[in-house]
Amino acid sequence: MDTLTFDLTDPTQYHEGISQAASAIARGGIVVFPTETVYGLGADATDERAVSRIFEAKGRPSDNPLIVHIADREDIFLAASSVPPDAMRLAERFMPGPISIVLPKNDSLAPNVTAGLSTVAVRLPVCREARDFIRAAGRPIAAPSANISGKPSPTRAEHVIRDMNGRCDVILTGYDCEVGLESTVVDMSVFPACILRPGAVSAKMLSEVLGYEPRSSYKEKLTGAPKAPGMKYTHYKPDAKVTSVAGSDFAAMAAFIRGELEAPEDGTVRGAIVFDELIPLLSGCPNLYPLGSIERPDVYCARLYDALRWCDTEGIGEVWVTSPPPGGISDAFLNRLDKASDVTVEL
Ligand code: TXA
Ligand code: MG
Repeated sequence: MDTLTFDLTDPTQYHEGISQAASAIARGGIVVFPTETVYGLGADATDERAVSRIFEAKGRPSDNPLIVHIADREDIFLAASSVPPDAMRLAERFMPGPISIVLPKNDSLAPNVTAGLSTVAVRLPVCREARDFIRAAGRPIAAPSANISGKPSPTRAEHVIRDMNGRCDVILTGYDCEVGLESTVVDMSVFPACILRPGAVSAKMLSEVLGYEPRSSYKEKLTGAPKAPGMKYTHYKPDAKVTSVAGSDFAAMAAFIRGELEAPEDGTVRGAIVFDELIPLLSGCPNLYPLGSIERPDVYCARLYDALRWCDTEGIGEVWVTSPPPGGISDAFLNRLDKASDVTVEL
C-alpha cells in the first residue's frame, strides 16, 4: 500500500500531516506517530477492523492488548469506565507523561484492543505532535509501539520508515524520542498497585504518590498466565546474539570486551554497545556504539533501541552491551536489555 509520510519537524508539513493522519483514522486507517517514549502505530480504538489492521501490520499476536492513547486528561473516561482515587492521583501527577495506567475498560472500546480483558491501559503522551494528532482524530487511539513484532521499538524517524513504510496509511515523523523506552505500565485495577512494565516513571516516583511501594510483577518469574500479556513474548531483539555485561570496574569490563572483540576471526562480525567511559579503553576495536556516559541514564536509555537496531544495519552477528547499576529509569533499561540478551555476564 501507499504510505504518506510527513516530517513534523518541518513547519510547512505540520498541519497537512496532522490533517491527513486524522482523516486516515476516520477512514479506518492506521497511522504511525511520534511520542516521547517510542513511536506508536495507531487506529481508532472503537473500530474493530481498524484495530485488526494494527496486528496485521506488526505481525503481532492478537492476545497481546494495546494501550489506548488520549489527548487530554478528562478524556480518560473515553477509555476507562471508572478511575479509582489512587489512580486519579497518579493521573493528576504523571499525565501527560510516560505512564500507562491499567483501569476497568469502557465498553465502547473494540474488543480486540484489550484482547478480551476487562481492563484497558490508558496513556496521555507529553509529545505535542502526538496530542495534536489524537485531538484532530477526535477518537481514543489504540497504539502499540510501531515496530515489527519482536524487534526493538522505533525511536527515530529512520526506524519507523524502515519498519512501516508500505504497511500503514500515514507516517508522521518528529524529533528522536526523548525517553526512548516504552511507558511504565502500572495496574491500578488491583490492590496493591502493580508495575507490569518499568519505564521512566520509576517505582520510587509511584510510591511517593501512592504512599506505599507498588508490587513489581515484571521481576517475578513467569508462571502460568502473565498479567501483562506482552511480557511473555520475546521483545526488542536484533538479529545479533546479545551478551549483556554487568560490572562496576570499567577497566575490567573493557578488558573482557576487548578479548571478545579480538577473538579469532570466524566470519562473525562482532561489535559492542558501551558507556562512553569505555571508549578510550577500547581504542582500536571496530564496531563500537557509544551509549553516552554512565552518569546520564536519560541519554543511555534514549539510545538503547537505536543501538540494538544499529547491530542489524551493520550486519553485526554478535554484540556485547554494558549494563548500568539498577535504580530509577535504569530499571527500565535493564529490563529491556535482559529481554534482548541471550547471555548475561557479571564481572
Ligand atoms: O510508551 C508506550 O507505552 C508505547 C507508546 C506508543 O505509547 N506503547 C507501547 O505499546 O509500548 P505496546 O503495545 O508495545 O506495549 C503495551 C504493553 C504490553 O506489554 C501489553 O501486554 C500491556 O502494555 N498491556 C496493555 N493493555 C493491558 C492491560 N489491559 N492489562 C495489562 N497489560 C496491558
Ligand atoms: Mg511494543
